[in-house]
Amino acid sequence: MSSILRCTRGALAPLFLLVTATTGLASAQIPDKFTNLKVLPTDISRADLTATMRGFTEALGVRCSACHVGEEGQPLSQYDFASDDKAMKRKARVMLRMVKAINGEFLANLPDRHEPNVSVSCITCHGGVHRPEPIEDIVEQSIASDGLDSAVAQYRQLRARYYGSRAYDFTDQPLIALARTLSQDDKATEAMRVLEVNLEFLPESSMTYVAMGQLHERAGEKDKAIEAYTKALEIQPRNRMAQQRLRELKGGGGK
Ligand code: HEC
Ligand code: HEC
Repeated sequence: MSSILRCTRGALAPLFLLVTATTGLASAQIPDKFTNLKVLPTDISRADLTATMRGFTEALGVRCSACHVGEEGQPLSQYDFASDDKAMKRKARVMLRMVKAINGEFLANLPDRHEPNVSVSCITCHGGVHRPEPIEDIVEQSIASDGLDSAVAQYRQLRARYYGSRAYDFTDQPLIALARTLSQDDKATEAMRVLEVNLEFLPESSMTYVAMGQLHERAGEKDKAIEAYTKALEIQPRNRMAQQRLRELKGGGGK
């Protein structure tokens, strides 16, 4: 059981300390006896429970009211924490069981496990958002449902809000991967556009130029492909993909 609490070590440790220091205030409004714990130990102290719950809010970027019956702004003493009415709470309980199984069964039985152990916690996957969805999937779905312009706008908004947090990967890789998928689906315009967005934020991404070169090659635009690979090499002279494609395109004599 303690593995659930222990697994919040690491990234959440500072949070824990902070919470312990302020629980006097927070937990005064929280009941003393818990009547509906199905995964956490039923004899958990109020301080540990409060710290665990604060950990949930931090890891998922939500308030208590996302999972518990109660109104934002209302005193916590008026919440019905024991109620399972909210789907988010029921989902969180499944997650709690999952994390317990990962740490307590799977990782605990990992052969030749390294010391000190590394364990999984809510923040490992969630990174501060309640739906831990890869950014490339979000953009891809957004293109399909709302069109290219709003998908790009959504990427910009997410980046403005979450850049520097653990929530989403804003390196060049997700949009390059997405461009590849789009290109395979014969969506060259969309693919080029997401690569341009990459360059807007990461102008030194040589792999983005390589991906552009590949798109141009696919479209039969040899000169533009050469231009893109050349740019990739300017930025990163050892880029082997760019070297190889250039050699083939220039040496191939129109093949
Ligand atoms: C992501 C969902 C989620 C969030 C956010 C969340 N909780 Fe919980 N909470 C749960 C789950 C799930 C349980 C039940 C755990 C179990 O069954 O062992 C629980 C149980 C509790 C209980 C015990 C209720 C009882 O009597 O059984 C209290 C008290 C509580 N939470 C307070 C809070 C407070 C205060 C916050 C905000 C700081 C909070 N929770 C945020 C999911 C959440
Ligand atoms: C191994 C990765 C992983 C870990 C660890 C993890 N989650 Fe999740 N969680 C997910 C994924 C993936 C989803 C989205 C599932 C879906 O809707 O397809 C999700 C969904 C949820 C949801 C539903 C969100 C919504 O908007 O419907 C809640 C609540 C949640 N997790 C709570 C937690 C809590 C609390 C913990 C820690 C006890 C936790 N999760 C640990 C991967 C994880």
